[in-house]
Amino acid sequence: MIADIVTAVSYFAIAAAIMVLVVRLRDQLPFQVVFVLFGAFIVLCGATHVMGVLPLGDNRGVVETATMVATAAVSLLTAVILPPLLPRVEALVRDAALSRQREREQARADALAESNELLVAQAQDLQRVNEALAASLKERERLEVHLQQVQKMEVLGRLASGVAHDFNNLLTVIQGNLELARDEPREGRTDTTHLDEIGQATEQAAELTRRLLAFGRRAPAQTSRTTLDQLLASERRLLERVLPANIRLDLRTGNADGLVDVDVNLMQQAILNLIINARDATTSAGRTNGTVTVETGVRVVHEEMLPTFPPVGPGTYMTVRVADEGTGMSAETREKCFDPFFTTKEDGKGTGLGLSMLYDVMAKSGGGVHVDTAVGRGTTFTLLLPKVA
Ligand SMILES: Nc1ncnc2c1ncn2[C@@H]1O[C@H](COP(=O)(O)OP(=O)(O)O)[C@@H](O)[C@H]1O
Ligand SMILES: [Mg+2]
Repeated sequence: MIADIVTAVSYFAIAAAIMVLVVRLRDQLPFQVVFVLFGAFIVLCGATHVMGVLPLGDNRGVVETATMVATAAVSLLTAVILPPLLPRVEALVRDAALSRQREREQARADALAESNELLVAQAQDLQRVNEALAASLKERERLEVHLQQVQKMEVLGRLASGVAHDFNNLLTVIQGNLELARDEPREGRTDTTHLDEIGQATEQAAELTRRLLAFGRRAPAQTSRTTLDQLLASERRLLERVLPANIRLDLRTGNADGLVDVDVNLMQQAILNLIINARDATTSAGRTNGTVTVETGVRVVHEEMLPTFPPVGPGTYMTVRVADEGTGMSAETREKCFDPFFTTKEDGKGTGLGLSMLYDVMAKSGGGVHVDTAVGRGTTFTLLLPKVA
């Protein structure tokens, strides 16, 4: 009996729960009829259990029959309604699964779009940085061109004033001597000292223009094939003449019979300038006497680079070494000595073109210059020209 009561109460509770659900979700819940029928079915089931306990007296038969009929009716109704509904239930479940999948895909697509936008933004940032870089590069190039132009003008200015200065000095010498020479017939003098000095000054002026022309010439050098021994032998007298009596020329040739290709005139001028520089350095050192050594030779340059200006690669080179016992150069002077117009000599004495011309001659012949110098210890220039035969 107790079991019947518990079962009945449980049935009623289940039916009540279903009814609450139907009432609460009346707008959204599909197939409400089925739920209601199911609820009724459960209530009727509960009723059959309760009936045994209730004091129904004579009516028991009627009530029991009514309950069974109602149960049968509800069951029948459910059985009729439910099957046609099944496809709709199935569709509903499928739809729910599908929409869940769609939501997931949408979320994934949203995430992708978001990261895409981020990438696009980053690309735009990069583009902007690139543009800024390009702009600053352009600006730099423009400034560099401008700077080069300014430097060119500066060099031209220095060249013009240097040449004007040198020529002015020579013109002063020529004019002074001319005036003195004009007076000579009146004084009854017959020597030609003044005329000779005029001649010397004009020769120097001509030499100056020759050097300038050689320096300015950008045409290929007029090279010919020769040995350094020959080149020096034909220049010997000139080299001796530029040195004063207290400075000895120690010329050691005969060690370089290999052939080189070089512009002989320019090379001789470059060596002459080295001798004049050696003379000036020896005199500036305050020495009463000294030696300038000029020696030819051969040098094999191996893989390790010899520090020359311009640099030379491995190979066999014919060399001329010009060494003096003069002042030597400071590191700063040595650094700049090949620069055009660099000179430490007083106005009118130096043009600063000698070593830059030497550099040019060597560069055109595939050679290089090695400088060994220290303040107070003299200077040695070694010229290397590639041996061609
Ligand atoms: N043998 C040397 N000893 C010391 N200094 C030198 C020597 N040769 C060149 N120099 C330095 O290099 C500078 C440039 O030389 P160079 O180009 O011949 O021009 P310049 O002789 O007209 O000054 C010189 O002014 C001098 O300072
Ligand atoms: Mg010089």
